[in-house]
Amino acid sequence: MRVDETGVAMMMSVRMAPPLSLIFLLVIHRAYSETEHVDYIPLHICALKNSSVIMSCSFTYPTGREIIKVFWTKTKDKNADYEYPNLSEDPEYSQRLQYLGDKQKNCTIRLSHVTQKDSQMYYFRFTTDQPNVKWLGVPGVTLTVTDLQVESPETVTEGDSVRLTCKSSCALTDRATFIWYRNSQPLTERRDRNNQLLLQSVRREDAGRYSCGVQEHTYISPAVQLNVTYPPKNVTVSINGSGEIVEGDSVTLICSSDSNPPALNFSWFKGEMFVGSGRIYSISNISSDDSKKYKCKSSNEHGEKYSDAVTLNVMYPPRSVTVSIIQSGQFLEGDSVTLICSSDSNPPALNFSWFQENQSSSVGSGQSFIALQSGRFYCEAHNQHGSQRSDAVTVTVKGRLMTLHISMVCGACGAAVFIITMLILWLKNRNCAQNAQMYHDGQACDAEMTNPLYENVTAAQHGSNTCKPEPNSSVYENIPTRRR
Ligand SMILES: *[C@@H]1O[C@H](CO)[C@@H](O)[C@H](O)[C@H]1NC(C)=O
Ligand SMILES: *[C@@H]1O[C@H](CO)[C@@H](O)[C@H](O)[C@H]1NC(C)=O
Ligand SMILES: *[C@@H]1O[C@H](CO)[C@@H](O)[C@H](O)[C@H]1NC(C)=O
Ligand SMILES: *[C@@H]1O[C@H](CO)[C@@H](O)[C@H](O)[C@H]1NC(C)=O
Ligand SMILES: *[C@@H]1O[C@H](CO)[C@@H](O)[C@H](O)[C@H]1NC(C)=O
Ligand SMILES: *[C@@H]1O[C@H](CO)[C@@H](O)[C@H](O)[C@H]1NC(C)=O
Ligand SMILES: *[C@@H]1O[C@H](CO)[C@@H](O)[C@H](O)[C@H]1NC(C)=O
Ligand SMILES: *[C@@H]1O[C@H](CO)[C@@H](O)[C@H](O)[C@H]1NC(C)=O
Ligand SMILES: *[C@@H]1O[C@H](CO)[C@@H](O)[C@H](O)[C@H]1NC(C)=O
Ligand SMILES: *[C@@H]1O[C@H](CO)[C@@H](O)[C@H](O)[C@H]1NC(C)=O
Repeated sequence: MRVDETGVAMMMSVRMAPPLSLIFLLVIHRAYSETEHVDYIPLHICALKNSSVIMSCSFTYPTGREIIKVFWTKTKDKNADYEYPNLSEDPEYSQRLQYLGDKQKNCTIRLSHVTQKDSQMYYFRFTTDQPNVKWLGVPGVTLTVTDLQVESPETVTEGDSVRLTCKSSCALTDRATFIWYRNSQPLTERRDRNNQLLLQSVRREDAGRYSCGVQEHTYISPAVQLNVTYPPKNVTVSINGSGEIVEGDSVTLICSSDSNPPALNFSWFKGEMFVGSGRIYSISNISSDDSKKYKCKSSNEHGEKYSDAVTLNVMYPPRSVTVSIIQSGQFLEGDSVTLICSSDSNPPALNFSWFQENQSSSVGSGQSFIALQSGRFYCEAHNQHGSQRSDAVTVTVKGRLMTLHISMVCGACGAAVFIITMLILWLKNRNCAQNAQMYHDGQACDAEMTNPLYENVTAAQHGSNTCKPEPNSSVYENIPTRRR
């Protein structure tokens, strides 16, 4: 490209001659010069960090000369006394630089794993067997090494569109294909223009760390956080502590929500009434009046949302224990009194005990109790949280015992009368029967016996043997014995 200054000076000093020949020689020299040059294609290279760069180069030299040295250098202005530094001997390059050319015309090199420090101009140098003719190919190849930077807004509101750009400091070739990553995962979709990524109608899931790279290159840009802001979602109330809530307990309600930026403003409602603010709502010494539906509202600058209502089920021991009296059975069984125990408790009392005043042990259990005697009775209702007793009620049981007594006495009396009567009748009857039997067996038809029975028996025995008692008959003998 350009003849080395030193070379020209040397040649001129050698060929010092009259002005005419000087002009001739200059023309000759020009002809020589045109055959001594270096070509770089392209002159400017934009390379991605850590990639390999081929610097294509060709040179020509005057015919008849022999090439002694070919090498690359990054130094343009040398010290007078020394040769240009050989780039291949520079420790920064020695491992990465490879001379692919020859000593004839090809001076191509490859530089691997380029870094941004490699961004500068490089020159090809050759020397010939003519010590005074040396060539430096200036201007050299300009190498620019670029990294990639994701350009994106920091935050985008859900539903908006956003465009991310993969920026390089120099223009990479048109053939470069960009690849996008979210949280290190390659994205296969929605690639916009070559180095841009268009996210339309951004969703929460689009938030993440974005980076970009170029296909077939190892280098990937630093990641850039894209925040997606959105109003509160998934607002929930949780009750701190597990298990049941008993009157007097302290209860903490916590409102949680998912929002970006995180909600800082919370409101609490008991039923429809506003009762407080803050993420945590505490109720100390809870009472059954607090058995209500609670909900919270979470808000940020993008909106607000209510939680579902949560019902606090406050347990408490029985209270307002009362006994009611039901009179019953006036007509059939005499007076009895049924007592019913009622109470207010949570959970409902299922266990009741009955007491009569001034008696230590209980007289009954169950929600109802039948009093058989007069007195002052009270009940005690229990659930697992405690018990309470009612006021005593006065019960008067009229008549029943009296009636029972009289009827028992009369009943016993009547039964005795009846039994005696029956006994008398039976004895009478028995006499008669014995007589009848005697007639039957004996056939001793006494004249005094004109009993129709006798006649019937006779008729029944008609046609049988004569009715003549035998003196040895046991029946006959027995009867007199019994009558004795
Ligand atoms: C430049 O350095 C390389 C590596 O040490 C060596 O192989 C090469 O011969 C050198 N070239 C010249 C012209 O000194
Ligand atoms: C120079 O050599 C390289 C590597 O051998 C080759 O790829 C390239 O085509 C050559 N250039 C020319 C102009 O011959
Ligand atoms: C540079 O490239 C090599 C392979 O060519 C790769 O192993 C290495 O991880 C890359 N370094 C960086 C920082 O990307
Ligand atoms: C983006 O989100 C990250 C974490 O999610 C947070 O640390 C950062 O402050 C947010 N930036 C902005 C601008 O909101
Ligand atoms: C709501 O939040 C809970 C816990 O924080 C989570 O398990 C659930 O998946 C979330 N629901 C939605 C729809 O985001
Ligand atoms: C929730 O209860 C646990 C113990 O049960 C306690 O350590 C914690 O501080 C409570 N959290 C709140 C927010 O009250
Ligand atoms: C909370 O939101 C209410 C309206 O919803 C507003 O009046 C109040 O100022 C907010 N408080 C804070 C601390 O932002
Ligand atoms: C709890 O509340 C009840 C009724 O509201 C009250 O009688 C009791 O003294 C309170 N206990 C405490 C510790 O405040
Ligand atoms: C009813 O309560 C009494 C007194 O607390 C208890 O002794 C009894 O076991 C309870 N009965 C039932 C069935 O729970
Ligand atoms: C029960 O005892 C109380 C004192 O403990 C007494 O005042 C009351 O008269 C007694 N009642 C009956 C019916 O004995």
